[in-house]
Amino acid sequence: MGIQITPSILNADFANLGAEVARIPSADFVHVDVMDNHFVPNLTFGPTMVEAIARSTDTPLDAHLMINDPDRHAPTYVEAGCASVTFHVEAAAAPVRLAREIRSAGGRASMALKPATPVEPYEDLLPELDMLLLMTVEPGFGGQKFLDLVLPKIRRARALMDKHGVETWLQVDGGVSLETIERCAEAGADVFVAGSAVYSADDPDAMVEKLRAAAAD
Ligand code: DX5
Ligand code: ZN
Repeated sequence: MGIQITPSILNADFANLGAEVARIPSADFVHVDVMDNHFVPNLTFGPTMVEAIARSTDTPLDAHLMINDPDRHAPTYVEAGCASVTFHVEAAAAPVRLAREIRSAGGRASMALKPATPVEPYEDLLPELDMLLLMTVEPGFGGQKFLDLVLPKIRRARALMDKHGVETWLQVDGGVSLETIERCAEAGADVFVAGSAVYSADDPDAMVEKLRAAAAD
């Protein structure tokens, strides 16, 4: 599939989300961070807002659910128009069943791991997943510093994917910028979330292309 850039709108202007998404036509997906103030200490928006964002753009949405009880809520985000839905394994009661439900609702199923969650216990789940998200910051806020300690896990996840011969995409999220994206790509990531790096740039769409070029280097 190659390199994909999935900008996060977490640091965009929430009063003008339609216009903010329109500033990044080169994005492969728009990454929407759903937070519930329980799984993470921050609160963003829910399915009604996500549905409105989906209606406002032709770019597919990549929902990142930082919420408790994703087993109950994740399929709703496929219905809200998200092409990809990511749940956190730390919050999921039955991740295999949930991944299958997301797929049968018509979405790409994706599972996220916080920085301290190891990938090895989930090796056998990889064929059930269209994407694995490795968090490179503790989830909850944009603008945090990239955690280099996750790089070995990115390498190990890529090796497991190669071993199983799966087509699962490997996404990284948190502190991804022109400074850090090459390290992630070199370690084996192929899908890159960038929030503050894109929305603090004078020209967000040009930054999307710069990040893509840096990752492909
Ligand atoms: C953090 C979110 C990220 C966030 C990334 O919990 O999941 O998607 O928007 O922001 P930056 O790129 O600024 O770290
Ligand atoms: Zn995210």
